[in-house]
Amino acid sequence: MVHMNVLTDALESINNSEKRGKRQVLTRLCFKVIVRFLTVMMKHGTPIGKFEIMDDPRARKIVVNLTGRLNKCGVISPRFDGQLKDLEKWQNKLLPSCQFGFIVLTTSAGIMHHEEAR
Ligand SMILES: *[C@@H]1O[C@H](CO)[C@@H](O)[C@H](O)[C@H]1NC(C)=O
Ligand SMILES: *[C@@H]1O[C@H](CO)[C@@H](O)[C@H](O)[C@H]1NC(C)=O
Repeated sequence: MVHMNVLTDALESINNSEKRGKRQVLTRLCFKVIVRFLTVMMKHGTPIGKFEIMDDPRARKIVVNLTGRLNKCGVISPRFDGQLKDLEKWQNKLLPSCQFGFIVLTTSAGIMHHEEAR
């Protein structure tokens, strides 16, 4: 649950930076869950652009490049547990249309994109 709060904060700052027209967002919280999430997003060519992990002598940080094409992002909260067979239902509920949007899931096999989960 702690990890989900970390991810919630990171996505909120990505969302807000994008809305303010920033090109980059930096998070000092360098957690595996964030890195894994960004890796999934990047692999699927989402509007969250490339990211780099910078090893500052004082602290590690993640710099995410923004592309200005992100509408909205966030963590679905409260968390709910679902079965694979319900995935389509959640997709219809959560995404603006079947062509847009991504759901990233935490599953027993790790963090993955909704198409991968299928
Ligand atoms: C992010 O953007 C900066 C400035 O445009 C660029 O120098 C840097 O290489 C980019 N990082 C990645 C990982 O693409
Ligand atoms: C993202 O930013 C928009 C505009 O500032 C806001 O309305 C929306 O609630 C934010 N979404 C999340 C998930 O924080």
